[in-house]
Amino acid sequence: MRETRLWSLHILVIPIILVLLGAHFALMHYAPIFYALSVEKAREFSTMIARGKNIGQFVVYILLLAAGLYHGLYGTRGILRELPWSPALAKLIDLGILIFGIAIFALGVYVTWWTFNFELGG
Ligand code: HEM
Ligand code: HEM
Repeated sequence: MRETRLWSLHILVIPIILVLLGAHFALMHYAPIFYALSVEKAREFSTMIARGKNIGQFVVYILLLAAGLYHGLYGTRGILRELPWSPALAKLIDLGILIFGIAIFALGVYVTWWTFNFELGG
C-alpha cells in the first residue's frame, strides 16, 4: 500500500513538472518568443533577482523543486532497487536517498529565500 502511494505520487507530479518545466524552459530558452525579452536579459542576474521577489515565482520554484526532486529521486531509487541488495542495505539506500533529498530541498529553499530577500546594490 505504501509502495503504491509512493509510486502514485511519482506519477502524479509529472503534470506539475510538464507545466512548470515547460514554463521554465520557455523563459530560459525562448524568452524572445514568449516574453519579448532577449535570452541574455532573461538570464541576467538583476532580472533573476527581480523575478525572485515575486511571491508567485517563489511558490512555483519550490513546487518545481519538490516535484522534480521527488520524481527524480524516486525514479533513481527504483533503478537501484532492481539490484540484489540485502534487505538491510536496501533500507540504508532508502534512508540515504531520503536524507539526500531533504538536504537538496533545504538548499533549494534556502537559495530561493535568499533571492527573495536579496537587495541589489545593497
Ligand atoms: C516532463 C518531464 C517528465 C516526464 C513526462 C517524465 C515521465 C516519466 C515517466 C512516465 C516515468 C516512468 C514511471 C513508471 O513507469 O514508473 C519516469 C521515470 C523516471 N523519471 Fe521522469 N519524467 C519527466 C521528468 C523527469 C526529470 C526532470 C527527472 C530527473 C530529475 C526524471 C527522472 C526520472 C527517473 C530517474 C525515472 C525512473 C526511470 C526508470 O525506472 O528506469 N524525470 N518519468
Ligand atoms: C539549461 C537549462 C536551464 C537554465 C538555463 C536554468 C536557469 C535557471 C535560473 C536562472 C534559475 C533562477 C530562477 C530564475 O531566474 O527564474 C533557475 C531556477 C530553477 N530551476 Fe532552472 N534552469 C535550467 C534547467 C532546469 C531543469 C532541467 C530543472 C528541473 C528539472 C530546473 C529547475 C529549477 C528550479 C527547481 C529552480 C528554482 C531554484 C531553487 O531551488 O531555488 N531548471 N533555473
